[in-house]
Amino acid sequence: MDFDRYDRIRPIRWEGDHLALLDQRRLPAVVEYVQCADSDAVATAIRDLVVRGAPAIGIAAAWGAVLAGQAVQAADGAQALELMTPALGRLQAARPTAVNLMWALARVRRTLLASGSDWLNVLAGQARSIEAEDLAANRHMGALGAALIAPGSGVLTHCNTGSLATAGFGTALGVIRAGVAGDRIARVFASETRPWLQGARLTVWELLQDGIPATLVADAAAAHLMKTGAVQWVIVGADRICANGDTANKIGTYSHAIAARHHGLKFMVVAPSSTVDMDTARGEDIEIEMRDPAELLAVSGQRTVAEGVEAWNPVFDVTPAELIDAIVTERGVVERPTVQGMRALFAEGGA
Ligand code: MRU
Repeated sequence: MDFDRYDRIRPIRWEGDHLALLDQRRLPAVVEYVQCADSDAVATAIRDLVVRGAPAIGIAAAWGAVLAGQAVQAADGAQALELMTPALGRLQAARPTAVNLMWALARVRRTLLASGSDWLNVLAGQARSIEAEDLAANRHMGALGAALIAPGSGVLTHCNTGSLATAGFGTALGVIRAGVAGDRIARVFASETRPWLQGARLTVWELLQDGIPATLVADAAAAHLMKTGAVQWVIVGADRICANGDTANKIGTYSHAIAARHHGLKFMVVAPSSTVDMDTARGEDIEIEMRDPAELLAVSGQRTVAEGVEAWNPVFDVTPAELIDAIVTERGVVERPTVQGMRALFAEGGA
């Protein structure tokens, strides 16, 4: 496909001595980059959702590690790692659920241990590779996922899984881009994704940049939409895929999966191998991020709920493997995921 026709947004820009992150809290009204001059600024940006989406968080952390490296003097990688350990720990603690963050930092640590005096260049090269590998994986998954969809289908997606959430092209949104380009997808619906509105503020905006028409629905309208027969596939990304195929993704994904199964629709998860965590056996073992209840109690900073009311704000949920028809990764597709099916592609763990 003509990749240049699609996907022109880049949320992460390495500027040589600092990291520029597209401020996703302000989109679509304001397109502005936050400049991160040190690794703690990157950790804060990850925690505060300036940059978000599992692969993008991993990439930002890899560049955050380069900034941590620029702040120390060391003769070799092992010494650098010792000096950088507190900063790497703060990056890792920024968010708990998306395993790409831990995966990228584990790769940083391994690389440092194997590096000599040119460790800082090696580290920067690795951040560039993590970014390039993610873009290539997304483009490949786009083709693999689109091939599963019958021509003329309607699809529903949740949260934002596009260029904004990755190095480019996107995971679930990459499949949608490829599916639209190949005339397999005729209609795209996006659920708004309360409370942070990734679907409403980011996904439909991103599709608009590509000239792909998309229809926004309230999260609560998803089951009714499925009942009308307008969609054949629900396509989502992932923050962590366990050894048995259980998948953590943005809150609301699980209810979409239940509704899809009830209506006889197909459910696809699209994620690079950096999101696969073969060390986590099943969904119950995943830490689900709990965020400030204030995110639920206010809209655009304006309190909408009576004072004194409490809120419970888990921002991810786990879709059990039995509700998933296909997990699409750059290594291949796992249909009707099981431990055996996952092991066949990920015998040695994730990427
Ligand atoms: O809280 P967020 O916006 O970081 O959550 C993002 C999601 O849940 C995405 O669906 C997931 O990371 C896949 S992104 C390719």
